[in-house]
Amino acid sequence: MKRLLATGLCALFLGVFSSLAQWGPVEIPTPTDGLKDAYKDYFMVGVAVNMTNVSDPDQIALIIREFNSITAENAMKPQPTEPQKGVFNWEDADKIANFCREHGIKLRGHNLMWHSQVGTWMYQDENGKLLSKEEFYANMKHHIQAVVNRYKDVVYCWDVVNEAVADSPVWPGQSELRNSPMFQIAGEEFIYKAFEYAHEADPKALLFYNDYNDAEPAKSQRIYNLVKRMKDAGVPVDGIGMQGHYNIYSPSEKEIDDAITLYSKIVDHIHFTELDIRVNTEMGGALRFSQGAAQVADWEKTLQEDQYTRLFKVLRKHKDVIDCVTFWNVSDKDSWLGVNNYPLLFDANYKPKRAYVQVKGFDPARDNAVIKEDFKPSELNQPGQQYPMVNSQGYARFKVNAPNASSVIVSLGLGGTGGTVLRKAEDGSWMGTTEGPMDEGFHYYHLTIDGGVFNDPGTNNYYGSTRWESGIEIPAHDEAFYAERDVPHGNVQEVRFWSKSTNMLKRAFVYTPPQYEKSKKKYPVLYLQHGWGENEYAWSNQGKANLIMDNMIADGKIEPFIIVMTYGMTNDVRIGGLGGFNYHDFEHVLCDELVPYVDSHFRTIAKKESRAMAGLSMGGMETHTITLERPEMFGYYGLLSGGIYTPDEIKDKNQVKGIFIGCGSKEGPDRIMQAAADLKAAGFNAKGYVSEGTAHEFLTWRRCLYEMAPMLFK
Ligand code: XIL
Repeated sequence: MKRLLATGLCALFLGVFSSLAQWGPVEIPTPTDGLKDAYKDYFMVGVAVNMTNVSDPDQIALIIREFNSITAENAMKPQPTEPQKGVFNWEDADKIANFCREHGIKLRGHNLMWHSQVGTWMYQDENGKLLSKEEFYANMKHHIQAVVNRYKDVVYCWDVVNEAVADSPVWPGQSELRNSPMFQIAGEEFIYKAFEYAHEADPKALLFYNDYNDAEPAKSQRIYNLVKRMKDAGVPVDGIGMQGHYNIYSPSEKEIDDAITLYSKIVDHIHFTELDIRVNTEMGGALRFSQGAAQVADWEKTLQEDQYTRLFKVLRKHKDVIDCVTFWNVSDKDSWLGVNNYPLLFDANYKPKRAYVQVKGFDPARDNAVIKEDFKPSELNQPGQQYPMVNSQGYARFKVNAPNASSVIVSLGLGGTGGTVLRKAEDGSWMGTTEGPMDEGFHYYHLTIDGGVFNDPGTNNYYGSTRWESGIEIPAHDEAFYAERDVPHGNVQEVRFWSKSTNMLKRAFVYTPPQYEKSKKKYPVLYLQHGWGENEYAWSNQGKANLIMDNMIADGKIEPFIIVMTYGMTNDVRIGGLGGFNYHDFEHVLCDELVPYVDSHFRTIAKKESRAMAGLSMGGMETHTITLERPEMFGYYGLLSGGIYTPDEIKDKNQVKGIFIGCGSKEGPDRIMQAAADLKAAGFNAKGYVSEGTAHEFLTWRRCLYEMAPMLFK
């Protein structure tokens, strides 16, 4: 349920359950340290800056906090530094160099020779005719050495030649290199010369060949081939720059891994020089920007987070050869791709995104985690279905057939993520495993396929977010208390009662304990409510309330009682306003219609001391209000992840015989335990309970029922 309580509703829940932090819209606090700190044992983290970035105090503060390497986005390129032959413009480049000198930040030089952003004087005359090789080399040498000499105290590496390899496809017989004017004049040799001139000017600088589509198998092979030929010819090339202009669909983790592995055979230094990940299908240096007014959907953000997460996992794996990873621009607002590509870790307001949190908050232990291959079909699967599967560590694995889909996301993942992104497997299906072990117990989930929401056909459905959701069960270490055992079983029967106040036939499920039919005994009754998004089916399906009762009765842990589960009318709440939710309608149905119905149709002990009300989450809020408004009705109260009672609220100490308050350890349980302690101190019979290792989910509530039942009707 928790994931589905998006923004509006959460805000209203938070007011009541301030402890349920995971329900809130994700407010990411301003970081106190940076990416550079998180990655200090791996590689430097850099950023490309424009002139505003190094002038605005807030942006400067962000840069200094986050990054320890800087690249000038444009200021050091051939055309900006030497727009006309022999006429240099150092203003912007100096400003960035001085910024780095002042703050002690490393400066990557970008770039010395490129077919783009270069004055045409470099390679052609006034009539547009290509220069001779000698003239071109003289121009190039003079330019490169002027720039390198000016910044050699602060620039520690240079992208010497940029984007000289041809894009795919390259047909047999065609050159592997781009047919640029420089290439036309001098062939491949111009690349070698550029490196030699740079090396001559600053023998200490690390010299890089830099390119895009760097993980595409065919192009990465051509890049490798070029650098190999350079090495063989004795050219002073030290490293390969992988620009890394990627998108949310590609390249794959494997392609990136393979490219790095390939490059590391020929160079000792690999830099990611221009990283960004667009939320569309474009990539590379191709300038087809999506700059329209597109809205980025949440599922696209999830794909982006996943792509960043996987990329950084690969980068960490290759930390021996990767020494710097540079983002191309500070925030989406600065991005060369336009803000609608949503490509960076900081949004258009310079606020960190969830992707930032994930890239930064990696768990090194998980990088090397060994997943046990003992996966078994989840016990909630439809007959004959293999997937989803669960292994003994609590990892869940999914498989979905959607041959023509572009993306499949399972809404289930580790906290803070938007879910588990599946990848296309060799057989055309989509497969994926959760990043780590899931919490034990029951989880609702659904699939998002190309933005559309579907259930997983592999598993059964459970009503859980005002719709039937897919469900999966991660076996809990203490599952015996709700296990299906060979003990006497009670019945769950569906009853229909007429509700005058709402003028409709309503449904309730009534659990009667074993022996109910055979005996003449009268029983106490617990009215047990579900949460927001759920309905009267929840407690006897995903809640397993009947099995919990049967087992406890068989083990002599409780005296039998009846449980009545009806719809709490919770799902009419409109997103944005619990204020508009009227408890009184349900209070009326419950107290004035259902209770009399149950008392007249079942053998109940029809008095307050033998009647309890409890509810989970929003059902707890209902319980809280109704028990206090109708002190004559219920003798026992239970709130399951559903807030607290304070001693002051309960006017007459004798009105209640027992109060149970419980929640999961991941729901901020301190408030619950404090409330229970306060009630006890005030003389109430109260019990506080925290379910270890669980959040706002059904294992918490199953355990709460198990802990609460023995204190009822004593
Ligand atoms: C881009 C800059 O970000 C833009 O401001 C400019 O208009 C064009 O160049 N590959 C590179 C970078 O090596 O220098 C490019 O930078 C992006 C693609």
